Amino acid sequence: MSTRSRSLRRFWPCAHPRRFAWERGVLLPLSLVLGVGCRQEMYDQAKAKPLSESTFFANGQNARPLPPDTVARGFLREDKAMYAGIAPSGSFVTELPIPLSRALLERGHERFDIFCSPCHGKQGNGLGMIVQRGFKQPSSFHVDRLRQQPIGYFFDVMTQGFGQMSSYASQVTPQDRWAIAAYLRALQLSQHVPAAELPPEDRQKLAQSARKPEHRPSPGEPK
Ligand code: HEC
Repeated sequence: MSTRSRSLRRFWPCAHPRRFAWERGVLLPLSLVLGVGCRQEMYDQAKAKPLSESTFFANGQNARPLPPDTVARGFLREDKAMYAGIAPSGSFVTELPIPLSRALLERGHERFDIFCSPCHGKQGNGLGMIVQRGFKQPSSFHVDRLRQQPIGYFFDVMTQGFGQMSSYASQVTPQDRWAIAAYLRALQLSQHVPAAELPPEDRQKLAQSARKPEHRPSPGEPK
Protein backbone atom coordinates (compact mmCIF):
# COMPACT_ATOMS: atom_id res chain seq x y z
CA MET A 1 0.00 0.00 0.00
CA SER A 2 1.47 3.38 -0.97
CA THR A 3 1.88 6.18 1.57
CA ARG A 4 -0.80 8.18 -0.21
CA SER A 5 -3.46 5.50 -0.07
CA ARG A 6 -2.53 4.71 3.52
CA SER A 7 -3.06 8.34 4.49
CA LEU A 8 -6.28 8.32 2.46
CA ARG A 9 -7.47 5.32 4.44
CA ARG A 10 -6.67 7.10 7.68
CA PHE A 11 -9.06 9.95 6.83
CA TRP A 12 -11.58 7.83 4.94
CA PRO A 13 -11.26 4.36 6.46
CA CYS A 14 -13.93 2.71 4.31
CA ALA A 15 -12.29 3.79 1.01
CA HIS A 16 -10.62 0.86 -0.61
CA PRO A 17 -7.83 2.27 -2.84
CA ARG A 18 -8.94 0.40 -5.99
CA ARG A 19 -12.62 1.19 -5.54
CA PHE A 20 -11.82 4.82 -5.01
CA ALA A 21 -9.88 4.88 -8.30
CA TRP A 22 -12.97 3.58 -10.14
CA GLU A 23 -15.20 6.16 -8.53
CA ARG A 24 -12.81 8.91 -9.38
CA GLY A 25 -12.56 7.78 -12.97
CA VAL A 26 -16.26 7.39 -13.76
CA LEU A 27 -18.61 8.80 -11.15
CA LEU A 28 -16.91 12.14 -10.64
CA PRO A 29 -16.83 13.26 -14.31
CA LEU A 30 -20.36 11.91 -14.79
CA SER A 31 -21.78 13.87 -11.86
CA LEU A 32 -19.97 16.99 -13.04
CA VAL A 33 -21.47 16.72 -16.52
CA LEU A 34 -24.98 15.98 -15.23
CA GLY A 35 -24.81 18.59 -12.48
CA VAL A 36 -23.65 21.41 -14.74
CA GLY A 37 -26.29 20.52 -17.34
CA CYS A 38 -29.12 20.77 -14.80
CA ARG A 39 -27.87 23.99 -13.36
CA GLN A 40 -27.65 25.70 -16.73
CA GLU A 41 -31.28 24.97 -17.57
CA MET A 42 -32.57 26.55 -14.34
CA TYR A 43 -30.09 29.37 -14.54
CA ASP A 44 -30.90 30.55 -18.05
CA GLN A 45 -34.65 30.80 -17.73
CA ALA A 46 -36.41 34.18 -18.13
CA LYS A 47 -36.74 35.96 -14.80
CA ALA A 48 -36.53 39.36 -13.13
CA LYS A 49 -33.72 39.76 -10.60
CA PRO A 50 -34.57 41.74 -7.47
CA LEU A 51 -33.96 45.48 -7.89
CA SER A 52 -32.84 45.06 -11.52
CA GLU A 53 -33.90 47.34 -14.37
CA SER A 54 -37.13 46.69 -16.27
CA THR A 55 -38.18 47.77 -19.75
CA PHE A 56 -41.68 46.46 -19.09
CA PHE A 57 -42.85 48.51 -16.10
CA ALA A 58 -43.34 52.28 -16.42
CA ASN A 59 -41.07 53.15 -13.47
CA GLY A 60 -38.22 51.10 -14.95
CA GLN A 61 -37.88 48.79 -11.91
CA ASN A 62 -38.55 45.07 -11.79
CA ALA A 63 -39.35 45.14 -8.07
CA ARG A 64 -42.99 46.12 -7.65
CA PRO A 65 -43.83 48.76 -5.02
CA LEU A 66 -46.04 47.54 -2.16
CA PRO A 67 -49.69 48.59 -2.47
CA PRO A 68 -50.55 51.30 0.09
CA ASP A 69 -51.37 50.05 3.62
CA THR A 70 -49.76 46.67 3.02
CA VAL A 71 -49.12 44.81 6.27
CA ALA A 72 -46.80 41.85 6.52
CA ARG A 73 -48.56 38.64 7.46
CA GLY A 74 -48.86 38.38 11.26
CA PHE A 75 -48.02 42.07 11.83
CA LEU A 76 -51.43 43.75 11.65
CA ARG A 77 -51.38 44.47 15.39
CA GLU A 78 -54.59 46.45 15.47
CA ASP A 79 -55.22 45.34 19.04
CA LYS A 80 -53.76 48.30 20.96
CA ALA A 81 -54.24 46.67 24.34
CA MET A 82 -52.19 43.66 23.28
CA TYR A 83 -49.46 45.43 21.31
CA ALA A 84 -49.15 48.81 23.06
CA GLY A 85 -50.68 48.22 26.50
CA ILE A 86 -53.15 51.06 25.77
CA ALA A 87 -56.89 50.82 26.47
CA PRO A 88 -59.56 52.40 24.17
CA SER A 89 -59.70 55.32 26.67
CA GLY A 90 -56.07 56.12 25.76
CA SER A 91 -54.61 55.25 29.19
CA PHE A 92 -52.56 52.17 30.09
CA VAL A 93 -54.49 48.92 30.48
CA THR A 94 -55.04 47.89 34.07
CA GLU A 95 -55.54 44.20 33.27
CA LEU A 96 -53.50 41.62 31.43
CA PRO A 97 -54.88 41.31 27.85
CA ILE A 98 -54.02 37.57 27.77
CA PRO A 99 -55.17 34.82 30.13
CA LEU A 100 -53.15 34.53 33.32
CA SER A 101 -51.85 31.05 34.11
CA ARG A 102 -49.12 29.45 36.13
CA ALA A 103 -47.30 28.65 32.86
CA LEU A 104 -47.39 32.33 31.88
CA LEU A 105 -45.91 33.38 35.23
CA GLU A 106 -43.19 30.75 34.95
CA ARG A 107 -42.36 31.93 31.44
CA GLY A 108 -42.30 35.52 32.72
CA HIS A 109 -40.02 34.52 35.60
CA GLU A 110 -37.58 32.88 33.18
CA ARG A 111 -37.65 35.82 30.71
CA PHE A 112 -37.29 38.34 33.55
CA ASP A 113 -34.22 36.55 34.88
CA ILE A 114 -32.69 36.53 31.39
CA PHE A 115 -33.54 40.01 30.11
CA CYS A 116 -34.19 42.22 33.13
CA SER A 117 -32.36 40.86 36.18
CA PRO A 118 -28.87 41.84 34.91
CA CYS A 119 -29.83 45.43 35.78
CA HIS A 120 -32.95 45.23 37.94
CA GLY A 121 -31.75 42.29 40.05
CA LYS A 122 -33.64 39.01 40.49
CA GLN A 123 -35.72 40.65 43.24
CA GLY A 124 -36.33 43.78 41.18
CA ASN A 125 -34.49 45.97 43.69
CA GLY A 126 -32.44 47.71 40.96
CA LEU A 127 -29.12 46.24 42.10
CA GLY A 128 -28.33 43.85 39.23
CA MET A 129 -24.76 42.98 38.29
CA ILE A 130 -24.55 45.59 35.50
CA VAL A 131 -25.58 48.26 37.99
CA GLN A 132 -23.00 46.98 40.48
CA ARG A 133 -20.46 47.48 37.68
CA GLY A 134 -21.44 51.11 37.13
CA PHE A 135 -24.62 51.33 34.98
CA LYS A 136 -27.31 53.77 36.07
CA GLN A 137 -29.30 52.34 38.99
CA PRO A 138 -33.01 52.03 38.12
CA SER A 139 -35.68 52.53 40.72
CA SER A 140 -36.62 49.48 42.77
CA PHE A 141 -39.92 47.94 41.58
CA HIS A 142 -40.97 47.88 45.23
CA VAL A 143 -41.73 51.55 45.71
CA ASP A 144 -45.31 52.86 45.95
CA ARG A 145 -45.01 54.81 42.67
CA LEU A 146 -44.33 51.59 40.72
CA ARG A 147 -46.70 49.41 42.74
CA GLN A 148 -49.47 51.81 41.73
CA GLN A 149 -48.62 51.87 38.02
CA PRO A 150 -51.10 49.96 35.83
CA ILE A 151 -49.70 46.79 34.25
CA GLY A 152 -49.77 48.45 30.80
CA TYR A 153 -47.06 50.85 32.02
CA PHE A 154 -44.54 47.99 32.40
CA PHE A 155 -45.42 46.67 28.95
CA ASP A 156 -44.90 50.18 27.56
CA VAL A 157 -41.48 50.57 29.20
CA MET A 158 -40.32 47.24 27.73
CA THR A 159 -41.75 48.17 24.30
CA GLN A 160 -40.54 51.77 24.05
CA GLY A 161 -37.59 51.82 26.44
CA PHE A 162 -37.33 54.34 29.28
CA GLY A 163 -34.55 56.92 29.69
CA GLN A 164 -31.28 55.01 29.64
CA MET A 165 -33.01 51.65 29.32
CA SER A 166 -33.39 50.60 25.70
CA SER A 167 -36.47 49.01 24.14
CA TYR A 168 -36.85 45.23 24.34
CA ALA A 169 -39.40 45.04 21.51
CA SER A 170 -36.95 43.46 19.07
CA GLN A 171 -35.73 40.83 21.55
CA VAL A 172 -38.84 39.91 23.55
CA THR A 173 -42.13 39.05 21.79
CA PRO A 174 -45.33 40.89 22.88
CA GLN A 175 -46.59 37.63 24.47
CA ASP A 176 -43.38 37.35 26.51
CA ARG A 177 -43.47 41.05 27.45
CA TRP A 178 -46.89 40.41 29.01
CA ALA A 179 -45.53 37.30 30.73
CA ILE A 180 -42.74 39.45 32.22
CA ALA A 181 -45.22 42.18 33.23
CA ALA A 182 -47.38 39.56 35.00
CA TYR A 183 -44.32 38.15 36.77
CA LEU A 184 -43.27 41.66 37.75
CA ARG A 185 -46.62 42.09 39.49
CA ALA A 186 -46.08 38.78 41.31
CA LEU A 187 -42.60 39.96 42.29
CA GLN A 188 -44.03 43.19 43.67
CA LEU A 189 -46.60 41.22 45.64
CA SER A 190 -43.89 38.89 46.97
CA GLN A 191 -42.13 41.86 48.58
CA HIS A 192 -45.25 43.57 49.88
CA VAL A 193 -47.65 41.12 51.51
CA PRO A 194 -49.04 41.90 54.96
CA ALA A 195 -47.39 39.28 57.22
CA ALA A 196 -50.80 38.20 58.50
CA GLU A 197 -51.78 37.02 54.99
CA LEU A 198 -48.83 34.62 54.70
CA PRO A 199 -49.29 30.87 55.22
CA PRO A 200 -48.06 29.72 58.67
CA GLU A 201 -44.82 28.11 57.38
CA ASP A 202 -43.85 31.33 55.57
CA ARG A 203 -44.63 33.36 58.67
CA GLN A 204 -42.31 31.08 60.62
CA LYS A 205 -39.52 31.56 58.03
CA LEU A 206 -40.09 35.31 58.21
CA ALA A 207 -39.69 35.26 61.97
CA GLN A 208 -36.44 33.27 61.62
CA SER A 209 -34.97 35.56 58.96
CA ALA A 210 -35.88 38.61 61.02
CA ARG A 211 -33.52 37.29 63.68
CA LYS A 212 -30.70 36.74 61.10
CA PRO A 213 -30.92 39.63 58.58
CA GLU A 214 -29.89 38.65 55.03
CA HIS A 215 -26.82 40.43 53.70
CA ARG A 216 -27.55 42.50 50.59
CA PRO A 217 -24.49 43.98 48.89
CA SER A 218 -24.76 47.59 47.80
CA PRO A 219 -23.20 48.81 44.51
CA GLY A 220 -19.46 49.29 44.74
CA GLU A 221 -19.16 47.32 48.00
CA PRO A 222 -15.93 45.23 47.95
CA LYS A 223 -16.43 41.44 47.74
C1 HEC B 1 -29.10 47.32 30.84
C2 HEC B 1 -29.81 47.48 32.07
C3 HEC B 1 -31.31 47.26 32.07
C4 HEC B 1 -32.00 46.16 31.63
C5 HEC B 1 -31.42 44.87 31.07
C6 HEC B 1 -33.39 46.43 31.86
N1 HEC B 1 -33.55 47.66 32.42
FE1 HEC B 1 -35.28 48.50 33.02
N2 HEC B 1 -34.28 50.18 33.51
C7 HEC B 1 -32.92 50.35 33.50
C8 HEC B 1 -32.58 51.70 33.90
C9 HEC B 1 -31.18 52.25 34.05
C10 HEC B 1 -33.80 52.35 34.16
C11 HEC B 1 -33.99 53.80 34.56
C12 HEC B 1 -33.78 54.59 33.30
C13 HEC B 1 -33.66 56.07 33.53
O1 HEC B 1 -34.23 56.58 34.51
O2 HEC B 1 -33.02 56.71 32.68
C14 HEC B 1 -34.86 51.37 33.91
C15 HEC B 1 -36.22 51.61 34.08
C16 HEC B 1 -37.18 50.64 34.05
C17 HEC B 1 -38.56 50.84 34.40
C18 HEC B 1 -39.18 52.15 34.74
C19 HEC B 1 -39.10 52.41 36.19
C20 HEC B 1 -39.58 53.78 36.56
O3 HEC B 1 -38.86 54.39 37.32
O4 HEC B 1 -40.67 54.23 36.12
C21 HEC B 1 -39.19 49.65 34.28
C22 HEC B 1 -40.66 49.33 34.55
C23 HEC B 1 -38.22 48.70 33.80
N3 HEC B 1 -37.00 49.33 33.69
C24 HEC B 1 -38.48 47.38 33.52
C25 HEC B 1 -37.57 46.53 32.89
C26 HEC B 1 -37.89 45.23 32.40
C27 HEC B 1 -39.24 44.56 32.57
C28 HEC B 1 -36.76 44.72 31.82
C29 HEC B 1 -36.59 43.40 31.11
C30 HEC B 1 -37.35 43.22 29.91
C31 HEC B 1 -35.72 45.71 31.97
N4 HEC B 1 -36.26 46.79 32.60
C32 HEC B 1 -34.42 45.55 31.54
C33 HEC B 1 -32.00 49.41 33.13
C34 HEC B 1 -32.30 48.19 32.57
